[in-house]
Amino acid sequence: MTKFADIKGFVFDLDGVITDTSILHGTAWHQLADSLGVTWTKELGDGLKGISRMDSLEMILKAGHKENDYTQAQKEALAAQKNTNYVAEVDKMTPANILPGMKAFLDDLRAKGYQLSLASASKNAPRVLGKLGLTDYFPKIVDPASLKHGKPDPEIYTKGAELLNLDPAQCIGLEDAAAGVQAINGAGETSLGIGDATELGAADMVFADTSEVTLANIAKHLD
Ligand code: G6P
Ligand code: MG
Repeated sequence: MTKFADIKGFVFDLDGVITDTSILHGTAWHQLADSLGVTWTKELGDGLKGISRMDSLEMILKAGHKENDYTQAQKEALAAQKNTNYVAEVDKMTPANILPGMKAFLDDLRAKGYQLSLASASKNAPRVLGKLGLTDYFPKIVDPASLKHGKPDPEIYTKGAELLNLDPAQCIGLEDAAAGVQAINGAGETSLGIGDATELGAADMVFADTSEVTLANIAKHLD
């Protein structure tokens, strides 16, 4: 079992962990699903968290039994349409969209010398960080375009630790999605889930809300 003193780095998911963009992704996909005649459910929305843009579209089409109804070019156009709607919402964001407690947590981590990297599947991550005023906190970002496999594959979290020159066992990964928790566990990092404990049952520790994510609370789970 990992001890708190072994931890040297934190590998962050972005959407749903640092900011509330998971809601914006969900709304934009919901809009697209409606326009395609695919019934939207909470389960479908939750299952898309952490999943890449094209894989998300495939999951939506599959849910409506429409996976064979579009050519690759048409699918790319649908994903681009969702992204245009999503980016329009992102561009309205400000530092006020940082989730409760997360700025203080990031400041505390920096002050105490922990290393930080970003393991988001989102190609919009640098843009979102810019809107939040957090670009300087994350000079080390895994490029999702460089990945062979998306979450739940561990690759993105393995790379997140590599960017920090740390062993995965020295890192905590933070996630709001079941697929992301699975990826962290597969990479051999300690998993911190934020959200519903039933949904994130595979995590080493689960906090209901970002405001509970502090070094003191993490230490309680590891010592
Ligand atoms: C994150 C979000 C997903 C999103 C994915 C790709 O993992 O949780 O909902 O689909 O990033 O985002 P992008 O901005 O590249 O479409
Ligand atoms: Mg997320």
